[in-house]
Amino acid sequence: MLREFLEADHADLQSSFAYPDVRLWNPQLASDRDVAEFVTARNDWSEGTHASWVVAQAGAAGRLVGYVSLHHIDAANVNAEIGYWTAPWARDRGYAVLSVRAAVTFAFETVGLVRVQLLHAVENEGSCRVALAAGFVIEGTSRQSYRFGDGLLHDEHLHSRLRSD
Ligand SMILES: CC(C)(COP(=O)(O)OP(=O)(O)OC[C@H]1O[C@@H](n2cnc3c(N)ncnc32)[C@H](O)[C@@H]1OP(=O)(O)O)[C@@H](O)C(=O)NCCC(=O)NCCS
Repeated sequence: MLREFLEADHADLQSSFAYPDVRLWNPQLASDRDVAEFVTARNDWSEGTHASWVVAQAGAAGRLVGYVSLHHIDAANVNAEIGYWTAPWARDRGYAVLSVRAAVTFAFETVGLVRVQLLHAVENEGSCRVALAAGFVIEGTSRQSYRFGDGLLHDEHLHSRLRSD
């Protein structure tokens, strides 16, 4: 299920942020920022620029297994970007694909967007597999477009899904 962030998630968030591949591929999340501040910001959707969830096992006290966020929501151009990670203890069980699909359904059916785009470093094969399995086509490669957690600029694949796909 996708749900809001709870205080009980703090330790799982901290250990996920510290995990090497999350630090590498999601550097904007995996800094040494305060987890409580992150949780407050992610639960506050009031500006309409993002919608972010904990991906959790089903049930009232389901443990965090990942994160998914629609960000850079652009109301004028009815589009957004999507980002995600799966906690190291929950990999390879389909959580990333399921949660990306659910967030995209929300984007199209609840927010009314027409396009969601997704960018990942070309070397991040796992993320490319998630994108393709969630129905995002590759539009091309953005060259040296993002500084990842190793401090280097990487080429990224640009994927998208349209409401009309
Ligand atoms: C990439 C990541 C999100 C995958 O999460 P996950 O929940 O394990 O992915 P899923 O179980 O939904 O797997 C989806 C598909 O990707 C494949 N896959 C997952 N990780 C992979 C990897 N490291 N290398 C190759 N394929 C991989 C799975 O085998 C599956 O393939 P299938 O569709 O043929 O069955 C996770 O490894 C992660 O959080 N990595 C670090 C942070 C990151 O890369 N975030 C994305 C930034 S754009």
